[in-house]
Amino acid sequence: MVVIRAGSTADAAQVAAVQREGWFAAYEGIIPGEIIDRVTAPDDGARVRQSFRTRPWQRMIVAMASGANAGVIGYASFGADGRVAELYALYVRPAWWSTGTGRALMERVLARSAGNGYSAITLWVLRDNRRARRFYERAGFTPDGATNVLTGLGNVIELRYRRSLESLAEQLEGLVAMTDARQIAATYFEAWRADPVPVANWMHVEDGKIARIQVAFDARGIAGGS
Ligand SMILES: CC(C)(COP(=O)(O)OP(=O)(O)OC[C@H]1O[C@@H](n2cnc3c(N)ncnc32)[C@H](O)[C@@H]1OP(=O)(O)O)[C@@H](O)C(=O)NCCC(=O)NCCS
Repeated sequence: MVVIRAGSTADAAQVAAVQREGWFAAYEGIIPGEIIDRVTAPDDGARVRQSFRTRPWQRMIVAMASGANAGVIGYASFGADGRVAELYALYVRPAWWSTGTGRALMERVLARSAGNGYSAITLWVLRDNRRARRFYERAGFTPDGATNVLTGLGNVIELRYRRSLESLAEQLEGLVAMTDARQIAATYFEAWRADPVPVANWMHVEDGKIARIQVAFDARGIAGGS
């Protein structure tokens, strides 16, 4: 079974190992092997721990497998610069590719970013990383035209992808509103039964039945009526 949970500095060594494995498997033939070896050289997670310290806005989630292959089998790091969220990295151990782990991590990143109020999310992917590009396109991302040359990695080209989070945010808001509205309706209905009035605060009653309930949520998620 695979569980997604928040990552911390305690996961740093395992996250670094996933990254190193992922780089060798995905970038072979794209980035020279000696560069991969140098950039991802084993350091017991020191670089990952440092990124937690120097990039406090960055969030990390990890995919954990139980059983014989227990431990971190994938991770994603993400954050935001202004109004747009960014997926910084998403790696799954090659032995776990095509098991739905990447998709589970991606869904959590999208839900968290939409839930935090971001209207769009971007990411950078190597132009020649076909597998990752296909994966991102299935997740609703499209290239937005921006490109970059990574001189430190042997002049490889990366492309920026972008995806709107609007529809996801609406779905999440709808879900919250539906759940809470039902609860609020039941509370008001009980109150109205005890003391029937034609219009009870935000609950409009016609012919002894609830005709309409208006519920709004403020920025803190506290329900109110209008
Ligand atoms: C890209 C990567 C994260 C994908 O992870 P993964 O665990 O293999 O992905 P999943 O198993 O969730 O998805 C793979 C399958 O699910 C399906 N799938 C995934 N997301 C989907 C979606 N949103 N909608 C429909 N189908 C989807 C695809 O059919 C895909 O099938 P295939 O692998 O047989 O072609 C992984 O290959 C990886 O770590 N690569 C190396 C690192 C890398 O390149 N990272 C990107 C750096 S920018």
